[in-house]
Amino acid sequence: MKVEGNRQINLHDCKPGLEHFRAEVIRGLQRTPKELPCKYFYDEQGSYLFERICGLDEYYIPRTEMAIMEACIDDMVESMGPNVILIEYGSGNSAKTRFLLDHLHDIAAYVPIDISREQLLSAVDELAADYPGLEVFPVCADYTNSFELPVVESPETRRVVYFPGSTISNFNPAEARKFLEHITGVCGPGGGLLIGVDLKKDPAVLHSAYNDCQGVTAAFNLNLLERLNRELDFDFQTDSFEHYAFYNPGEGRIEMHLISLRDQVVRTDDLAIPFARGESIRTENSYKFTLEEFQEVSTAAGFEVRHAWTDEKQWFSVQYLVNTG
Ligand code: AVI
Repeated sequence: MKVEGNRQINLHDCKPGLEHFRAEVIRGLQRTPKELPCKYFYDEQGSYLFERICGLDEYYIPRTEMAIMEACIDDMVESMGPNVILIEYGSGNSAKTRFLLDHLHDIAAYVPIDISREQLLSAVDELAADYPGLEVFPVCADYTNSFELPVVESPETRRVVYFPGSTISNFNPAEARKFLEHITGVCGPGGGLLIGVDLKKDPAVLHSAYNDCQGVTAAFNLNLLERLNRELDFDFQTDSFEHYAFYNPGEGRIEMHLISLRDQVVRTDDLAIPFARGESIRTENSYKFTLEEFQEVSTAAGFEVRHAWTDEKQWFSVQYLVNTG
């Protein structure tokens, strides 16, 4: 149990320790080609920079998703049905969820899950002030690993997982299928998944979304190295690396990289990692789907796509999937 201010929050804390973080980072940097898991973008500074990305003109995802939510919320709420236990994966500051909470009048409980304990706790505090009757069961966990959900059900309730923002884009196709299979288990037969899915579009639109003119995405990408310096005692010279993002049409994904601008060796403890000039660390993939491609992966995972709401330009979709099992 965690005490915040004068309120008590029952935090279900499954956050992996520093050693797990260190092991994943070292494994990634010792691979050829080098890579780092994109889930490590989101320390305090990274979460702040991501919020700034979400406010950029070029980064169309949040505003397009919200416009779809606003236009179709009645249909969405009706599809989900009453007495929903809403389980949100990667809830962050829960800002987007507020719109859903405002419309789910008979919600049974809200289970926000996030790896950032600080963000989770402050979001829960703010929700408690603004939604006094809402039962909230926060879980601090890395949702790419398995963890236990706090049990909050009754015979009338239905579990609905909420996974907005097209975070599914950051899994490779095999991981996406595995993750969706895992969600069928979490929501159970008759349960559902409300998910934001980014769609394939003009590569020029994608290019500017990940290469914004203010350089916020570049700062977000480079913050990952600063985080490794802060938390794992690496000695990255961050001005010797450069943000590089491009659309790979063959793979249907944006790739984000950090490119070494010179030959250099980066150290932590007794480990030395050599970089050649021009060598990259891949920090993120962001897959874009057609509606058919996403239906295929959902069906393979055991879901039925009940609705796919889109905007006029068909840039983004919000979909409701049901575990018919
Ligand atoms: C969280 N995720 C869906 C974002 C994306 O678009 O892949 C992360 C991001 N990376 C750069 N800008 C935003």
